Amino acid sequence: MLVHKATTGSTNADAGALARDGAPHGSAVWADAQTDGRGRLGRTWESPPQGNVYLSIVLRPTLPLDRVPLLCLGAAVVTAGVAGPHYRIKWPNDVQSPDGRKVAGILAEMELERGALRHVIVGIGLNVNAAPDLPTATSLLAVDGATRDREGIVAALLDGLLSICADLERAPDDVLARWRRASSTLGKHVRIGSIEGLAIDIDPTGALVVATDHGVERVLAGDVEMVRRHDA
Ligand code: BTN
Repeated sequence: MLVHKATTGSTNADAGALARDGAPHGSAVWADAQTDGRGRLGRTWESPPQGNVYLSIVLRPTLPLDRVPLLCLGAAVVTAGVAGPHYRIKWPNDVQSPDGRKVAGILAEMELERGALRHVIVGIGLNVNAAPDLPTATSLLAVDGATRDREGIVAALLDGLLSICADLERAPDDVLARWRRASSTLGKHVRIGSIEGLAIDIDPTGALVVATDHGVERVLAGDVEMVRRHDA
């Protein structure tokens, strides 16, 4: 089932309602505009009606709970691939243009029932033709001037999400390897909250592994800032 709406509050909320009504794995909602777009860490996602993609899919994977965050990383791999070959991923799942500006964000929301995973909603906001007026954001159109068919993008994202979900169940290490290859974070000096150091890897649950002056830390969530080292 694929539902298209001209305007909605949040496609993640819509997909969550479908999932609670029993919608099968792979059901999805996309919209031309959102009035209450949700971002990571409680933020809002600007969702103007100017030809962007706001898409949410219902996933019902067979994954241990500690591997569910890998869906976010996998969705970023898919989205970066759909955006183009030179797009990169800032941990955990911001998709960046070749010059390091954000073109897409991903919000995964899971629901449990008696401690077991019921479903996960993976929502993708991809700036196809318009971006917030911020130096840190851009759109696919601004990067290369090409016009794109949004239906084609939605179809490619849905195909990619279903196949990466299956890959995560069968061969999670392959997905982790694809994320590492697309990462703009690994090998950089980073700050995430109070933790600062060299981003050396992601672990099997998708946590960022940072070598600090006091030892190795695993970071489960947060915003990465790149740090310029004066001694480097
Ligand atoms: C982020 O903060 O980077 C994540 C943004 C996720 C936005 C998308 S747009 C489609 C879906 N519906 C929402 O309300 N949020 C996600």
